[in-house]
Amino acid sequence: MGYKAKFKVWRGDAEGGDLQDFTVEVNEGEVVLDVIHRLQATQAPDMAVRWNCKAGKCGSCSAEINGRPRLMCMTRMSVFSEDETVTVTPMRTFPVIRDLVTDVSYNYEKAREVPAFAPPEGVAPGEYRMEQVDVERSQEFRKCIECFLCQNTCHVVRDHEDNKTNFSGPRFLMRIAELDMHPLDAHENRAQEAKTDHGLGFCNITKCCTEVCPEHIKITDNALIPMKERVADHYYDPILRLFKR
Ligand code: SF4
Ligand code: F3S
Ligand code: FES
Repeated sequence: MGYKAKFKVWRGDAEGGDLQDFTVEVNEGEVVLDVIHRLQATQAPDMAVRWNCKAGKCGSCSAEINGRPRLMCMTRMSVFSEDETVTVTPMRTFPVIRDLVTDVSYNYEKAREVPAFAPPEGVAPGEYRMEQVDVERSQEFRKCIECFLCQNTCHVVRDHEDNKTNFSGPRFLMRIAELDMHPLDAHENRAQEAKTDHGLGFCNITKCCTEVCPEHIKITDNALIPMKERVADHYYDPILRLFKR
């Protein structure tokens, strides 16, 4: 059965904006993105929203719904009561372009700063061999859809804009951890770079990144904490460092 829901959607651009009130039809089985599309179709044709797959796989439709960072296409309307006002705002950590669309270039800049996988010398592609347990470890991290909800949520940059230069954020520290744990990666200095170039020390393990990850990746427990241990080994345990690989 359909009903009329109350929505507040942030409208504006880099100069400023405000929450705008809407009353909009909701049908059984719909998600928040369906309702935003209905607003575009019926009341606000110029409302800007970024989306692509509507299946939780492209990572485009990230926003904050009633204050919680979520994918709009994976947030069912049935999680809200019919008389509850649903408030949709853009991700707070990144500059607004227009309405619900933010400029996420910070993330792409940080991605470019992580050196790529370095294949071992003398081993041709197709000859790489590694243990199943190592394959499985990196598969968890590779579920990442680059929605940047973890980057948006981490207080290190959410509350301190000036940390953006020195902190790569959970998604890219996880990428460094994935490569550092890869038995065939020949890049020597990942642990050192995690500390000096990517700001791993800023992370104080609040785990907010893990809580919002739509892929349920255990970012903190399986990537950031082990990476901190590897950094400690690198700096303070030269013997372990020798045998680590
Ligand atoms: Fe999104 Fe999770 Fe990837 Fe972060 S780690 S970008 S929250 S999928
Ligand atoms: Fe930030 Fe996640 Fe660490 S939220 S502080 S990167 S545990
Ligand atoms: Fe692709 Fe939501 S539209 S994740």
